[in-house]
Amino acid sequence: MTDFEQFVPEHIRKLAEAGNSKPLNQGGKIVSKGGSSEDPVALNLNENPFGPSPRALEVLHAAIGQTHRYPEIQATDLHEELAAFHGVRREQVLVTAGATELLCMIARALLGPGLNAVTSAKSFIVYKLATQVTEGKLIEVPTRENGYDPEAIARAIDANTRIVFIANPNNPTGTMLAADEVDDFVDGLPDHVLVVLDEAYGDFAEAFARKRRAAYSHAFDYIRADKNVILLKTFSKAHGLAGLRIGYGIGPARLVSLFAPLRVIFSVSSVGQAAALAALRDAEHIRRAVENNTEQAEALSAGLQEVAFPVAQTWTNFLYCDVGQDAADFAERLRERGAIVQPLGLWGAPNAIRVSIGTPEQNRLLLHALSNLSATHREDR
Ligand SMILES: Cc1ncc(COP(=O)(O)O)c(C=O)c1O
Repeated sequence: MTDFEQFVPEHIRKLAEAGNSKPLNQGGKIVSKGGSSEDPVALNLNENPFGPSPRALEVLHAAIGQTHRYPEIQATDLHEELAAFHGVRREQVLVTAGATELLCMIARALLGPGLNAVTSAKSFIVYKLATQVTEGKLIEVPTRENGYDPEAIARAIDANTRIVFIANPNNPTGTMLAADEVDDFVDGLPDHVLVVLDEAYGDFAEAFARKRRAAYSHAFDYIRADKNVILLKTFSKAHGLAGLRIGYGIGPARLVSLFAPLRVIFSVSSVGQAAALAALRDAEHIRRAVENNTEQAEALSAGLQEVAFPVAQTWTNFLYCDVGQDAADFAERLRERGAIVQPLGLWGAPNAIRVSIGTPEQNRLLLHALSNLSATHREDR
């Protein structure tokens, strides 16, 4: 039989050998101390703690009855609605199966042998995943106070750089670059580099920025000025549609049209399109999620600090927390006590966890699990 390995490029073969990582959704049942079975509270993936937009749920019932039909291939209505919503032209919008699909498309379009993308260490894991299926390489620049260091990133750019990925706010550290810092960075970029400005958590950052009198984002100014910038947004966070996989990019039409052909045909499902159209204008649901988040960020940070873990100031819907011990082991013991958090070893922070900010009740469950864990810890000593 033909050995197909020989037809597959080496960088893909290496990935195949490494195999799949373990599933992200670690849900499922746990056995509580009393021996009964209950679901742990999942605070590991920065999802909307109030669930999907109710307006999306309403239209989903009808949309599900039509799932024998193919989706509208160009997602025309959704493109038009998004363009109207953001005050841009339809050609400046590109809807994809989550922002993740668009990240992969951009990497495939622009990277190749000898070329590179630059980002920060301790940033969104998909930048690495999207790059590693190309023959380009990802340069991860050391952080500044646990966040992006724009000057160091600018210094890392060379003639072979094609992309800079900036998560603002950053996942998993929760830091934000102020609008003027991003202005300076974008202004100083050479012409051969595209900035992917990932504002997946923009709704939360805007609310914090208002409260703290900071300036968050001038992304639309860059697009109006025809800079080499693609802004990324998603329905996975404030809108609560992570499972339906809808994200989008906004940028100069000349760039958007270059990436569009790389979208997987029919990747944006009919139910996803219907739900996103309804969720886009569900201001009430977004307001509820954002207000809860701004309030609970403080309450949860204070609670964590009481258990003696330093927490960094957040600009988004999760907290970055140093637990001063092996975080994977810590997360496992916390899970046994009813709360799932994300250990950050994969991100190069083996003693840190990321905790999504939940409803008051979810946060209470987390803090309860945590005090239970530290009590056992004390008993053990
Ligand atoms: C920085 C950042 N960008 C993008 C996304 C993913 O968005 P999507 O669910 O639309 O693929 C996430 C999800 O966690 C994220 O943290």
